[in-house]
Amino acid sequence: MNKLLEVENLHVHIRKGRRSLVAVEDVSFALEAGHTLGVMGESGCGKSITFLALTRLAAPNIRIAQGEALLEGKSLTALPDRELDALRGKAFSMIFQDSISGLNPLLKVGRQVAETLEIHTRLGREEIRRQVLELLVHVRLEDPEIAADKYPHQLSGGQRQRVMIAMAIASGPKLLIADEPTTALDVTTQLQILGLLQDLQKETGMGMILISHDVAVIRQMCQEVLVMYSGQVMESGLADRVLCHPRHPYTAALIRSVAGVGQKGHPLHTIRGTVAPLEQRQTVEGCVFADRCEVRCQWHREPVPLQTLEDGRQIRCHRKGGVEHL
Ligand SMILES: Nc1ncnc2c1ncn2[C@@H]1O[C@H](COP(=O)(O)OP(=O)(O)OP(=O)(O)O)[C@@H](O)[C@H]1O
Ligand SMILES: [Mg+2]
Repeated sequence: MNKLLEVENLHVHIRKGRRSLVAVEDVSFALEAGHTLGVMGESGCGKSITFLALTRLAAPNIRIAQGEALLEGKSLTALPDRELDALRGKAFSMIFQDSISGLNPLLKVGRQVAETLEIHTRLGREEIRRQVLELLVHVRLEDPEIAADKYPHQLSGGQRQRVMIAMAIASGPKLLIADEPTTALDVTTQLQILGLLQDLQKETGMGMILISHDVAVIRQMCQEVLVMYSGQVMESGLADRVLCHPRHPYTAALIRSVAGVGQKGHPLHTIRGTVAPLEQRQTVEGCVFADRCEVRCQWHREPVPLQTLEDGRQIRCHRKGGVEHL
C-alpha cells in the first residue's frame, strides 16, 4: 500500500513553568494516499496538539519529545524549520474551526488567497488574479468576484471556511489536516463543506486527516479512525468496524453517548466523570481511562498492552479482545 503519512511512537511534551508535562504518548498510525483518517475523542484528549506538533504550528512550549513522522518518506520531525516551511502548503496544509481568526481582518479575502499563491509561485499579477478566482469558484463560493473584494467579517461563517479551504488547497497539498472544520457552522452549511472536502479529495487524490468529536461526521467521511483519550490512542482501525462494533470501552461509551441525541424520549447516556486535566494525568499509572471505565479490571495500574485484534484494529486495553457489548 502507498503510505502518505506514517507516525511512529509520537510523544509530545508541554512545558509549564519548570515542569514538562506529557500531553501525547506513544501515538502511531499510518494514512494511505487518498484516504481520510478520522481523529476523535473528547475535548482535551490531545487531538489538536498531536497535529500542531507534527506540523510545527504548536506554541513554543510544546515539543515532540520522541517519535518519528514521515510524510512521503520525508521526516517531519527531523527536517530543519526552513525545509519544513517549504513543505507547508505544498506537501501539507491545515484548516481550523475558527475561520475568523484564521483570516486577517484587515485584508480583503481575495488578497489573502493571492498572498498564499505568491508564496509558492512567481506568477504575474494578472495570472494570480485569475487563479484566485479559479480557486474561489473551485470551493463553490457564490459570486466569487464580489466575494474576493470583501473583508472576512462581511462573509458568513460558511463562506469564510470556503476561503480558508481555497487557501489550503492553493498549492495542491498531498495532505490536508482539517481540525474541526465545520464545528462552528450550522448543520446545512456543515454538510455542504464536508461535501466540498470530499469532492476536492476525489479530484486531487489528497489524503485527509479530519479531527472531529462528531461520530456521524467521522462515519460519513473516513475510512480509518483513531480514538484518542488522555493523549493516548485507545482504539484504531477501519472506521466501519470501529464505529459499528467498538471493542474498547471508551469508544463504546463515546458512541453510546451520542446514539440517542436528537431522538425524543431516548435516555441520554453520558460517560461518567470528565477528562482529567494535564497535571493530574501525569501521575496516573497503567490505564488512563480506568477511573471512568464501566468494566475496569483489578490490575488497571499495570502497563496496558496494545492488542491487535482479528480484523487488524488495535486497542489499548487490559481485557483480552476488549469488550463485545457495552
Ligand atoms: N499551549 C498550551 N499550553 C499548555 N497546555 C496546553 C496548550 N495547548 C493545549 N494544552 C493542553 O493539552 C491538552 C490537549 O489539548 P488539545 O488542544 O490537543 O485537545 P483537543 O483534543 O484538541 O480538544 P478539543 O476537542 O477541545 O479541541 C489539554 O489538556 C490542553 O489543556
Ligand atoms: Mg482541538
